[in-house]
Amino acid sequence: MSNEAVFEEINEVKADMDYIYNQADPRSYFRELQKLNYAIPDSAKPVLQKLIEHMQKNRPDTLHVLDLGCSYGINAAILKHDLSMDDLYAHWGDLADATTPELVAHDQRYFASLDDSRDIEVIGLDQADQAVAFAEEVGLLGDSLVTNLETDPLSAAEKEELAPVDLMMSTGCVGYLTEKSFDRLLPAVTAGRKPWIANFVLRLFPFDAIEKSMEKWGYVTEKLAGRTFFQRRFASDQEQEQVLRQLRERGIDPTGMEAEGHFLAEFYLSRPRQDALEMPIGDLLPA
Ligand SMILES: C[S@@+](CC[C@H](N)C(=O)[O-])C[C@H]1O[C@@H](n2cnc3c(N)ncnc32)[C@H](O)[C@@H]1O
Repeated sequence: MSNEAVFEEINEVKADMDYIYNQADPRSYFRELQKLNYAIPDSAKPVLQKLIEHMQKNRPDTLHVLDLGCSYGINAAILKHDLSMDDLYAHWGDLADATTPELVAHDQRYFASLDDSRDIEVIGLDQADQAVAFAEEVGLLGDSLVTNLETDPLSAAEKEELAPVDLMMSTGCVGYLTEKSFDRLLPAVTAGRKPWIANFVLRLFPFDAIEKSMEKWGYVTEKLAGRTFFQRRFASDQEQEQVLRQLRERGIDPTGMEAEGHFLAEFYLSRPRQDALEMPIGDLLPA
């Protein structure tokens, strides 16, 4: 079975969330995902903060972060303004009665009033045009690409936008993106600064084909050993049963892990060989 077919089979057992990915504002996304305690941007935050801190030691200028599957600019809010998912659940929950234009105007003021905890500019990539437009309008994203790299190549203008990227990252996105997207991204991002690439990936999704795609560009991938990251609770008993079955079929033991009722992600860091040799992931991100 091709890797794409494997990902498709896995996606079939996951609850379908597509209807909340591309609304005019983030309220339905947050309302639905709060019910499932969706938390991967929070779980990922300390690791991403450490990477950003480390990279900023060697770069005095603004660090450019490309967020794959950026949605409504959630990782930008969390990393740039030091917010948490609970802050965002409360923020967008409190504004339930506003119209979308009122919400946008409110959020422009709100995000502009917050201190930037990090000197980063977030470039967002997502196929969800409305979500990306919201994130850009309220000032969470500095730049954006609305594209589906599973089906379309990068345009020349999009390739240029990717040249300044120092760190490419994703939460909750690999699985929708396969090696096809990485095959298209790697030539563009490595023409510039040879970014580090940080992916939080559900244990359910094999990462080997994406790892191979990056290898062609001189990248080495390391998985952070002994650490898992809470993504969300299962949406139903049926989702849990099917996920556990798939994990077992792939030789992954869910006991004490997904069997407790939630999705878990692992962290993969891909870097140019020399960078990985100079500081292995365990030194960079000690337990
Ligand atoms: C589970 S959400 C994760 C959003 C955000 N990163 C987070 O952790 O909250 C998955 C995102 O991937 C995007 N997506 C799905 N398939 C995609 C594709 N082929 N190309 C670009 N974005 C895609 C969706 O639109 C959605 O915003």
